[in-house]
Amino acid sequence: MDFYLTEEQKAVRDAARDFTQIELKPGVIERDTNKIHPTPQIKQMGEMGFMGMMVDPKYGGGGMDTLSYVLAMEEISKIDASCSVAMSVNNSLVCWGIETFANEEQKQKYLPKLTTAEWVGAFCLSEPEAGSDATSQRTTAEDKGDYYLLNGVKNWITNGGTSQLHIVIAQTDPEKGSRGINAFLVETSWDGVIIGPKEDKLGIRASDTHTIMYQDVKVPKANRIGEDGFGFKFAMKVLAGGRIGIAAQALGIAAGAYELAAAYANERIAFGKPIAQHQAIAFKLADMATEIEAARMLVYRAASLKDEGKDYGMASAMAKLKASSVAMDVTVEAVQIHGGYGYVKEYHVERLLRDAKITQIYEGTSEIQKIVISRGVIKGNLYLPT
Ligand code: CAA
Repeated sequence: MDFYLTEEQKAVRDAARDFTQIELKPGVIERDTNKIHPTPQIKQMGEMGFMGMMVDPKYGGGGMDTLSYVLAMEEISKIDASCSVAMSVNNSLVCWGIETFANEEQKQKYLPKLTTAEWVGAFCLSEPEAGSDATSQRTTAEDKGDYYLLNGVKNWITNGGTSQLHIVIAQTDPEKGSRGINAFLVETSWDGVIIGPKEDKLGIRASDTHTIMYQDVKVPKANRIGEDGFGFKFAMKVLAGGRIGIAAQALGIAAGAYELAAAYANERIAFGKPIAQHQAIAFKLADMATEIEAARMLVYRAASLKDEGKDYGMASAMAKLKASSVAMDVTVEAVQIHGGYGYVKEYHVERLLRDAKITQIYEGTSEIQKIVISRGVIKGNLYLPT
């Protein structure tokens, strides 16, 4: 097993790290406190190639592998998870979904805009009554001949208020269950697309989360992705890849909190020596580092399986389940190591603790990841080296 990064992968990681220190860190507390969307920062991320990293260069993308994307996600998430969720949705759910499953005309029309962040994409699956239970879509797309008439409500939509393109999952034939669902490319400038207010969230507060209403939106037939009835499988396949991005986000949140805690523990003197030299703190740091490394192996492995063209659905669910749980545990300990300072905004770890929680919820809760993993386990799919 090869655990070494290529020079190109290291360069991507280092570029992302430099970018976060110079462009993201200075305003991150203010954006979080006041729910200020990082629109200029996301534009910069587009200019630097972070918004369409895996897309073929012929559509304006970076042509990179999934591991490079994970490395960049990890670095950006250490500093600003509100930026990295916008990046994750645009790269994994929207760009990858279009490049892998849309037709050539759709790719040429939308990918060059999305890879440069001239446009940002959103993935609209969740509904007030259909989050985990993704087949129970209430949003309908009625076939009217040369167009579909889209009606319904989606919620918890990341990039909801600042995106120009939505991928909307909707029911076209309720009698067919999951096979009566389609995915549509919907431009937000079209009549009938109504953006609800921005949510006031515990974490990732600067990210743009909205309820969206679709009222008699005319979606041209040419904007359906894939064959009629492909929408549910499309959503599941896209989410399997998306979970690698969110796992990388969770890993980055954990690693960011660990780095802050370790640095603080080496500086803070108590009882005559740095607190890192007291066993109570040293053992915490040892546990945190070990758990982060375990999560990192799962995340990088899921990315590598995807790059090798192997089945990665179970691996991505395992990576997300583990990394999000580690993000919660490590951020709690990072606050504890900081003592009172950990409880105030200036030291960053309280934000990372709040940001960590969402990684156990979106793109499938931890319970959903266990459903996906247990289905794989039942099939005897253990991913052990052979
Ligand atoms: N790949 C391909 N096909 C798949 C699949 C996958 N990963 N998972 C299921 N399917 C197929 C099945 O084979 C089946 O096909 P057939 O009808 O041909 O047999 C069909 O889809 C229906 O499958 P199930 O009956 O297994 O469907 P289910 O409702 O039981 O779903 C589930 C399983 C795993 C629970 C799924 O519903 C799920 O993943 N739910 C969570 C959804 C989710 O992640 N929501 C988060 C919203 S997105 C978000 O958060 C974005 C954001 O803004 C950050």
